[in-house]
This record gives sequence, C-alpha cells and structure tokens, in this order.
Amino acid sequence: MFSGIQPTGDFHLGNLLGAVDNWVPLQDTHDAYYCVVDLHAATVPWDPAALRREVLSMTALLIACGLDPERSILFVQSHVPYHSELCWILTCIARMGELRRMVQFKEKSKGESESVGVGLLTYPALQAADVLLYRAHGVPIGEDQRQHIELMRTLAGRFNQTFGPAFVVPEPWIREEGARIRALDNPDEKMSKSTPRPASKILLTDSPTIIAKKIRSAVTDSGREVRAAGDKPAITNLLTIFSLVTKTPIPELEERYEGTGYAAFKVALADAVVDALAPIQKRYEELVSDRGEIERTLADGASRAEAEAGATMADVRAKTGLGPPA
Ligand code: TYM
Repeated sequence: MFSGIQPTGDFHLGNLLGAVDNWVPLQDTHDAYYCVVDLHAATVPWDPAALRREVLSMTALLIACGLDPERSILFVQSHVPYHSELCWILTCIARMGELRRMVQFKEKSKGESESVGVGLLTYPALQAADVLLYRAHGVPIGEDQRQHIELMRTLAGRFNQTFGPAFVVPEPWIREEGARIRALDNPDEKMSKSTPRPASKILLTDSPTIIAKKIRSAVTDSGREVRAAGDKPAITNLLTIFSLVTKTPIPELEERYEGTGYAAFKVALADAVVDALAPIQKRYEELVSDRGEIERTLADGASRAEAEAGATMADVRAKTGLGPPA
C-alpha cells in the first residue's frame, strides 16, 4: 500500500484522523510506503529553504505519530526521480478534460485558470505515478482524495490496455469515521492545510491553551443537545473528533454528555485532544532536534523505495519504447 502527505502548510487533526492514524496499523499487515510529497508542494510558489525545513519537520511528525521506518518505507518524493519520469508519461496519456474536472483544480484555480501554474492541473498525474510505481493495491486517504484515486485507476487501466499490463489498479481505502473532518469555524468546509484561518483547524503542534481556545470558539449548531445528526454538522464533527481521539463510540459520548450543554462538552473535548496530542508533541520535540538522524532515515527510505520503483520503471520503459534499449 502507498500513501502520501504534503509537507507544506500545517499538519492538522484532519490529516491525523482521516489518514495518518490509519497508516500506523497498516505497517504490520502490509508492505507500506509513506511519502512526503515535496514535488506536489511545488505546484504553488515555494521558498526552497522553507521547503527543506518543512520536509524534515513533517518527517519528524510522522514518526512521532507512529510511523516506524523499520516497519515501513518512509521517504521523500523528489529523492526518487522515477516519480517525475513516470509522471510525464502519465501526463501524456491523461486527457485535458479529465484533469480539468478535478474538484481540487477547480478550487485552487478559482477564476484564474489562465494564470495558475500548470502543475496544479497535472497534479493528479504525479499522484498517480506515486502509487503506480510501487504497484500498490490500496491507498489509505481521506474523502477529499477519492477523485484523484479514481483518475489514477483510469490512467493505470489505460496504460495497461495500450502498452500491456505494467500496473496494479489501486483501490482507495477510506474509513467511514474521520474521512472528512470539518473546519471548526465552518462545518460546510473540510479542515484544510490551505485555509488561512487559524481558527479553522487544530495543528498537531498547537499548545494546550491554543487547542482549548480553538475548541471553545468552534461553531456549534442551534439547540444545546450533544447529538450527532445530519442537521447538526458542527456538533457531529466535534463528536467525531472526540470519538476518534478517545476511541469511544459516539453513542457512548452522546449519553455521557446528555443535558450538559455545549460548553461542558467542549471543555472535555479540549482535554481529550490535548491528551491525545501530548505524546506526539513530546516525541516530535525529541526527534526534530536531531536533523542528521532524520536525514539518514530518509536516505535509507529513498534507497529502498528506489529499488522497487526502478523495477516498475524498467518494465514501463520496455513497454513504451523509452529509455535506453535493454
Ligand atoms: P494532503 O497532504 O492534503 O493530506 C494528507 C492526507 O490527509 C487527508 N485529509 C483529511 N482527512 C480527513 N479530513 C480532512 N479534513 C482532511 N484533510 C486532509 C487527505 O485525504 C490525505 O489522505 N494529494 C495528496 C497527497 C498525495 C498522495 C499521493 C496521497 C500525493 N501523492 C499518493 C495518496 C497517494 C494531498 O495533498 O494530501
């Protein structure tokens, strides 16, 4: 299996509960590849030194969350150049209409589709290359990435049909709870790295005071009942977060906070989130101070990933007539 995360912006509770929490147990049951996707971060303007820092700090956070480089392959996308090579081939077999239809492209290029970088459009071809290089069967992700995986499946199928079977057609693995954590200040939106409003998201590195403040000011629904329901998106979101960080079923939480009102519920939720993040933050602080160790881990991850990706690329080159003749 394969999954990836962008190093830029803020690692938030949505990334943790929708994706990374699911990645941890998969290390024991699957050949697991986890990739810090710095080439994807280059689809919007970037600062080179900041990007390098963010790659290291994202790696430290992932390890702090439970990714273990001994049990999985943890690496940086640009350290394995095959990603770019396969991306080009997939870009050439993707159709303009398929890429333009992507919701993420539409959102990010809002009204400026003539002036945004072309990388924003071809982004899903790079994402397809990421997964297909490792012949992964499953891609554990949040709901927002579903459309990209569907396109990946189309591209894999088209390649296999045109040139002969080189790729596994991967499945999205999306768990029901936590697949779409919503913004705290607007439950109509997802919690997102690219949203500039700090009150919309809880970062993994937020202090207990900040976490309490953000949860206290989170939007709630009309009424005072602590109950998950279709017409209560805000409180349902908070209950989902509570349930996932404490591993307590939602009905049990509804019973516990029945009649208490939103204020007391929010205090308890803030405590629960602080408790869940404390060990991650402690480990992160220890790891991030040893830059050399993180770099060694990533170099090892890249060389293991490169061996696998190289085998797929040799097959792709042979099938497409590209690369030096064998
Ligand atoms: P990224 O970096 O935006 O997000 C990383 C993971 O977090 C999930 N996620 C969420 N889950 C639940 N609720 C939310 N509010 C929420 N926000 C984000 C995402 O679904 C994702 O699983 N294009 C990808 C990175 C990528 C990738 C790949 C993923 C590049 N190549 C190959 C899988 C396979 C992205 O930008 O994720």
